[in-house]
Amino acid sequence: MKVLVVGTGAREHAIADALKDDVELYCYMSKVNPGISKIAEFAQGDEGEIEKVAKFAVDNNIDIAFIGPEAPLGKGIVDELEKNGISCVGPSQSAARIETDKSFMRKLFEDYDIEGSLVYKVFDNYDDVSAFLDDFDRDVVVKPVGLTGGKGVKIVGDHLKDNHEAKEYSKEVIDNAMGGFTQVIIEERLIGEEFTIQAFCDGTHLAPMPAAQDHPHAFEGDAGAITGGMGSYSDKGGLLPFLSQDDYDEAVKIMEATLKAIAKEAEPYKGILYGQFMLTADGPKLIEYNARFGDPEAMNVLPLLKTPLADVCQAIVDGNLDKVEFNDKASVCKYIVPDGYPETSHAGETIEVDEKAIEDLGAKVFYAAVGLEDDEIHLSGSRALGIVASGDSIEEAEKIAEKACACIKGNVYHRSDVGTTDLVNKRVEHMKEILN
Ligand code: GLY
Repeated sequence: MKVLVVGTGAREHAIADALKDDVELYCYMSKVNPGISKIAEFAQGDEGEIEKVAKFAVDNNIDIAFIGPEAPLGKGIVDELEKNGISCVGPSQSAARIETDKSFMRKLFEDYDIEGSLVYKVFDNYDDVSAFLDDFDRDVVVKPVGLTGGKGVKIVGDHLKDNHEAKEYSKEVIDNAMGGFTQVIIEERLIGEEFTIQAFCDGTHLAPMPAAQDHPHAFEGDAGAITGGMGSYSDKGGLLPFLSQDDYDEAVKIMEATLKAIAKEAEPYKGILYGQFMLTADGPKLIEYNARFGDPEAMNVLPLLKTPLADVCQAIVDGNLDKVEFNDKASVCKYIVPDGYPETSHAGETIEVDEKAIEDLGAKVFYAAVGLEDDEIHLSGSRALGIVASGDSIEEAEKIAEKACACIKGNVYHRSDVGTTDLVNKRVEHMKEILN
């Protein structure tokens, strides 16, 4: 079977790595990923030029295309590939609105009475935002309706000082049609612990993966700017130390109800559904959906797959997806990023990655935003690479990941607290406080 992975980063490297032993592997990527280029035939080009990707797929007799990032999904890459006879792991443009149009997503919850929703309102003018916020007595989150590359959502208490700043930012979103819509969503700010559940979907059936928790703050102790995610962990048994089986099951039920609703309101959803939840005193609430694997969370779950990813892809396109099995291990992923990230870049500087030493430790490296020139790896300014380890406990996986992080030399840093017992316990205590 010939499988084409579309995408350039660590998430796509993890997808390619999980496929490499079972398929003839191809990749279409905007930059040459030093890891993917070793294991796949590849073409370099803009993943958003969907006709060119489809031509590459047709020219190479691809059986299944696996779409990594959200931007090409928003442009209709799956519709284009399917028009050309290529089956896809990824939703159609219409079904991908679960991520690309946040007002569609919230309305779906309302119209289909799906549990786990929250107080929200969609606005298309500043005066209405202002009047609403004058009467709203809790902190809010401001979200552009469309895609903003992870940079549009602003939270009062994190990016914004108060609801007054939320008003000003809402105006900016509407006036600049940020994310391609002249609308903004205001949501209540939820208090709790965030967690991620990713699921394979074949349009009708959903196979959930182990839960994971991302760490969006740049610095240790959850300080600093909110970034693309500095690392994540998952636990044996598929739950998290603060997440019970009932909470997990409830979140999966929300995702199943969403899958049914998308099929009625848009088209059957095939691909990966990423649910970002907040565990609150009232149970899990849906913060947002993504129409693709999470980054870094993909790196936690994909190396643990027991069912071959190639078989899962085939089942997704055939519409007969069953239970997907994972090795019962904990995992810890730590992102290596340029010093000063996300403020300064160090773009162009070389880093040394001792892949052999990382492998000898039993860890894995997945390359993200780095360049490859004359066999040298260059920083680009964004997250450089993910280091992932698994073990019989989060603590064991964390220790291996930490040792592996020392195998990277250059002007880089990582959050050494991700997955440590101290930080995990802090999450557990936080959740206990909320529940009492
Ligand atoms: N972990 C955040 C994301 O994948 O969007």
